[in-house]
Parts: sequence; C-alpha cells; structure tokens
Amino acid sequence: MGAGPSTASNGSLSLKGDIAVVVGASQGIGLGVARRFARAGANVWIVVRNEQKGKAVVDELKQLGAPDARYSLADLSSKDDCQRAAGEIKTAAGEGGIGYLIQTQGGPPGAHDDAPGIDPHFAVQVFSRVILAYELRHTVKRSSVAIAIAGMGAKQFDTDDITLDRVKASGRASSALAKIVTIGGRDATVLDAAWLELAKDSSPDVQYLHLFPGVVKTNVMANTGQSAFFIWMSWLAGVLMGRTIDQYAEIPFFLTANPEGRKFVERGGMFWNERFKKVGAAPRAEDESTRKAIWDWLLAQMAR
Ligand SMILES: NC(=O)c1ccc[n+]([C@@H]2O[C@H](COP(=O)([O-])OP(=O)(O)OC[C@H]3O[C@@H](n4cnc5c(N)ncnc54)[C@H](OP(=O)(O)O)[C@@H]3O)[C@@H](O)[C@H]2O)c1
Repeated sequence: MGAGPSTASNGSLSLKGDIAVVVGASQGIGLGVARRFARAGANVWIVVRNEQKGKAVVDELKQLGAPDARYSLADLSSKDDCQRAAGEIKTAAGEGGIGYLIQTQGGPPGAHDDAPGIDPHFAVQVFSRVILAYELRHTVKRSSVAIAIAGMGAKQFDTDDITLDRVKASGRASSALAKIVTIGGRDATVLDAAWLELAKDSSPDVQYLHLFPGVVKTNVMANTGQSAFFIWMSWLAGVLMGRTIDQYAEIPFFLTANPEGRKFVERGGMFWNERFKKVGAAPRAEDESTRKAIWDWLLAQMAR
C-alpha cells in the first residue's frame, strides 16, 4: 500500500461540537490523542484512575482548545468501574452520543500477571476495552478505536483457556519474552474477535479500528514493571525509531476524524499499523467458530 497517505490536512480540521472520549489519557499515547482532539476544538472527555492527573490533563486540554474537557474516574481493572464509567458517559452524552471512543489504557503483561482467571493485565488491556466498546456501542457515532499490539496471535487458540490458567500454571509464560509473545498473542486474538463481532452489528457509519502504534516514546515498560533490560531496550528503540506522543496522535486523528482518513479506512478495513500498512486480524479471530466462542465467553463475563 505504498508510503501511505499524508496527514497534512489534519491541521485544517475543526471538530467544534464533537465529543471525543479518550481512555487512559493521563499519560502516554492517550494523552497525545486527547491533546490532538483538543487542538481541533473537540470536547474531550477523558477516563483516568487518578484524580490529580485527571484534573491536570483537563486543565491542559482546556488551554489547548477543548471547551468542555472533563474527566471520569475509573480503575479499569474493575468490571464494575468500567460499566459505571460507561453509564456516566452514556447519560452525559444523551441522544446526540459521542463521536469518538479511543482506548489506550494498559500495556504489556508485567511480572505480577500470573494470577489465575482474569488477571489485572487482561482486565485492563483487553476486558476493559471490550466492556467500554460494548456498553457504548449505540452511543458512539463515528469511531471506536483500540490502540494496542495488533497483527499478533498464534495459529492455535484454546477457547477453553482464554484466561491462560493452564499456561500460567505450567510456567510456559514465566519469562518476560514468553509473556509478551504468549499473553500478547492471546490479547490480540480476543480483542480482534471482539472488534470483529462489534463491527458486524454496528451501523455502517461507525468505524471499528484496532491500531498498532509502532514505537511511541512513553514510559509504558517502566509503568508495567518490566525488567531493566526491557526498559532499556524500549528506550533505545524510542531513540532510534520512536515517535513522540504528539507525532503519533496524528495517525489515529487522521483515520478517525479526517474525511480522507475515513475513506482510507473504508477501503482498507479495521487493522492498521503506524505506517498505514494493513495488519491482518489475529488468525484465530478470523475463524468463525473460535471468534463466536470468544465472544460468547466475553458476553458471559460481562453479565456476571
Ligand atoms: N508505547 C509504545 O511504543 C507501544 C507499542 C505497542 C503497543 N502499545 C500499547 O499502546 C497502549 C498505550 O501504551 P502507552 O505507551 O501509552 O502506555 P502508558 O504511557 O503506560 O499509558 C497507559 C495508560 O493506561 C492507564 N492505566 C493503566 N492501568 C489503568 C487502570 N487500572 N485504570 C485506569 N487507567 C489505567 C495509565 O494510567 P496511569 O497514568 O494512572 O498509570 C495510562 O494513562 C498499551 O496498550 C500498549 O500496550 C504501546
């Protein structure tokens, strides 16, 4: 798909009157995306877990041009908090709904993600995104976006062990690298399965996107308790080929809010990397019976 489109026309867009909800906007990629929508004059509502950070970001967003910047507080590792935050957003948005839901919370699995069942990593990185996208599926009018590792996933997927309890107990995912490959592959498969199911039943005006950000200069490795070696590797990758959060934010902004970007998505589908290259859905998410089993499991977890 060539060099990809230019985001230059982003600069002339005004989103006055639109609402963008950015989840995980207290720092990192989410903060960059929230700032980008604020600069275009959108009302930016952020979801964060820390009140002090929420207030500071809201002040900044107002200064950048978001007339109605506000925050909701939620610990996204809690299903109840996710459902409560979604309810508050739905009520505040009313009939008009929100234009954009952009989810950036979480990061790679860390040292403490071996607990059986829905562990804190899975809860934030995957389950919270599914809950918010599902609860807000009739509220979002233009784009529902997950920014996370995409284009991963093994050819095998055990739908009887979505929480990877057997893998965790066997110690097969105990090293940092094995965690990122095994757990990251599971995450991508579940997220892709959910996004494909949500897109299937949504209005054609709403675009579902799963975006892989490439390397963005954030503190995600330290924030998720990775080893000093991984933190150093990620710092080096950032220096050599990373984008700042504000540089990267032009991409999700282009694909969701810019008419040229929306046409690009219409032609190319829902999975993109940071160079505007299509990445495939996780292989097992494309298999109908696996996808349906994952989706039924997610619906059951949300209803518990
Ligand atoms: N940066 C990259 O190069 C890169 C590459 C590939 C994929 N990704 C993916 O992109 C996403 C964003 O990464 P990032 O680099 O922006 O990470 P980050 O800088 O660590 O930001 C993560 C955000 O998630 C929030 N968060 C974490 N746990 C939460 C919880 N329980 N409740 C509420 N909020 C919570 C954090 O809030 P606090 O400020 O309160 O901690 C923070 O705002 C992640 O899924 C990551 O895996 C990033």
